Amino acid sequence: MPGHQGETRRTRAAQEWESPGYESPLPVTEKSNPLSRDIDRAGPQQIVRVLQECDAEVFQGDLQTDAEYKRLYSESVVQILVNVAKRVKTILKEPENSLIVLSGCGTSGRIAFLLSNTFNRILARHQQKPVYSYTIAGGDKALLTSQEAPEDSPSLGAQVLEETCAGKKHVLFIGISCGLSAPFVAGQLDFCLNNLDIFTPVLIGFNPAHMARAEPIQGWPHTLREVTERMLDLQRGQRAFVLNPVVGPEAISGSSRMKGGTATKVLLESLLLLGHRAVHRHSEINHQAVLDCIRDYETVHEMTYSKTEELADVIGTAGISLQNQGHVYYLGWKTLGIMGIIDASECIPTFGADFEDIRGFMSGGFSEMNNKEGDLSSLGPQFCIDQKDFLSTILPNLGENDTVIFIFTVDEDFADVEKLAGQVKSKTSNLQAICHEHGGCRFPVNINNIFASKILRITWTSSAGDAEDGFFMRLQWELSTKWILNAISTGAHILKGKVYKNYMIDLKVTNSKLYRRAIGMLQRFTGCSWMQGERALLRALYRVEELTEEMITADVSRHTQAANASDKVVPTALVVLQTGCSVSEAQAHLREGSVVRDAVEACLTSGRH
Ligand code: F6P
Repeated sequence: MPGHQGETRRTRAAQEWESPGYESPLPVTEKSNPLSRDIDRAGPQQIVRVLQECDAEVFQGDLQTDAEYKRLYSESVVQILVNVAKRVKTILKEPENSLIVLSGCGTSGRIAFLLSNTFNRILARHQQKPVYSYTIAGGDKALLTSQEAPEDSPSLGAQVLEETCAGKKHVLFIGISCGLSAPFVAGQLDFCLNNLDIFTPVLIGFNPAHMARAEPIQGWPHTLREVTERMLDLQRGQRAFVLNPVVGPEAISGSSRMKGGTATKVLLESLLLLGHRAVHRHSEINHQAVLDCIRDYETVHEMTYSKTEELADVIGTAGISLQNQGHVYYLGWKTLGIMGIIDASECIPTFGADFEDIRGFMSGGFSEMNNKEGDLSSLGPQFCIDQKDFLSTILPNLGENDTVIFIFTVDEDFADVEKLAGQVKSKTSNLQAICHEHGGCRFPVNINNIFASKILRITWTSSAGDAEDGFFMRLQWELSTKWILNAISTGAHILKGKVYKNYMIDLKVTNSKLYRRAIGMLQRFTGCSWMQGERALLRALYRVEELTEEMITADVSRHTQAANASDKVVPTALVVLQTGCSVSEAQAHLREGSVVRDAVEACLTSGRH
């Protein structure tokens, strides 16, 4: 009865994190999840179970009718989805001089990009011109690599939006900030609020409004909380919308790429699909249609996690690769290739990983990506994403320590997959396949020989409907793949010892949110004051024993810039705080213990005695 036990554990956990005093005043998206407290000590099977339960919280209903937190299925959330879907319909019916802009930072921006392209493709199938556009903090470079600093700039956000919408008369702007925290998005929403004759702003995030980020933003007169409150006032007259169900704390605290990214995809796709179906099939946009759509995604969760054994196997293999200084490579096709690239790009800020540790490549490279700024490969190896780049730069040195994961569907040319697999096989036996097929169309039987049965294969129920059903199935494959890849990269880094309890102990402090999160972690683990934590962080960041006056008084933006060049900043600060040793001693200590988690834990435990 694991399902039943899981439900009981989830209910207990929710009662814990929903209680008012739990890790107050952290917003839900920054709290630690009681379900994943011991994930750092778990083996692959257990990691999958914990992630499954944390992800199931996305779809959890209200525990009681007067619950403080709205959930995905809550009446008020469904109503807003209905209202926004109707705006989508209006724009699709009168597309001239209209635009739907999706925007965000990091994963939120990458999902904005992905969906904007997908829905433009759906329009193309109906012989309609593109209506969607995306913006992402840091531009297209941020689609492939972590560009955290631009997230802090409201004026940049506003400027990019203004340029994107030049000449348009009606714009539905959907800004995503899972933590209701990104100044870049705040600037864009404020711009919309100042131009309501053209813009209808929508904010998507996963905290209640009173938990939106309230700290002052450098060089800007507003806060995100204030912007959210202005939007809530306008929501009554349907001039702005705030879609902010709570989906529970992340399995790895604050890692909004996981549940935040998932819930973003579910909400956005639901409301966009309903808008499209209303225009192309004349179907109604109502509560039932929204509920049906979300339930379909809940089924995707069940289908994906029914492959626990296979998923645990891949995590184990990928973990061994990272432990042995090997690499994990995702080789994907079409949008599943993009899912791989997105997942890989997130490992750098999340786990302090090197960009070579986990990398994604896709068939067709930039021509398949179809991003605004085109081919970025000349910017350096981090931007080389074509499978051809894999063949020319990675394959020659590929070895048994590396794991190569093929991600494809039954719609791909299987001969292509087979050929590439043959080339990889000559270098490493660690080949894995993640693949999706459907009732009406199955993989050839030789798939088992090619991948030596290391296959995570999901067979979906076919829908014999129209082109849009085909797209819907692909959206489901994408979400399923997202869960699988998030589990692989998170699990592999856990096995490598990059996670302490359920915290990303080795995160990069490259913007103000991450900077504050890091100090919060230091406080939590050592009981130090905010100021002590900040001073220790700065000493580790600048690698000095004494801070100069200039360092102490500099803006956070200067520190976050410097953080790009520093390594193991948070673990170093922790050791310094806990043992009272010098920065160089702490660095030496961390160098000795190759596993960050164990080195930190040894130090925290010894400090307690
Ligand atoms: O600052 C880095 C980051 O945490 C990314 O990892 C994440 O995808 C991005 O911020 C966006 O966060 P949010 O959606 O909460 O604005």
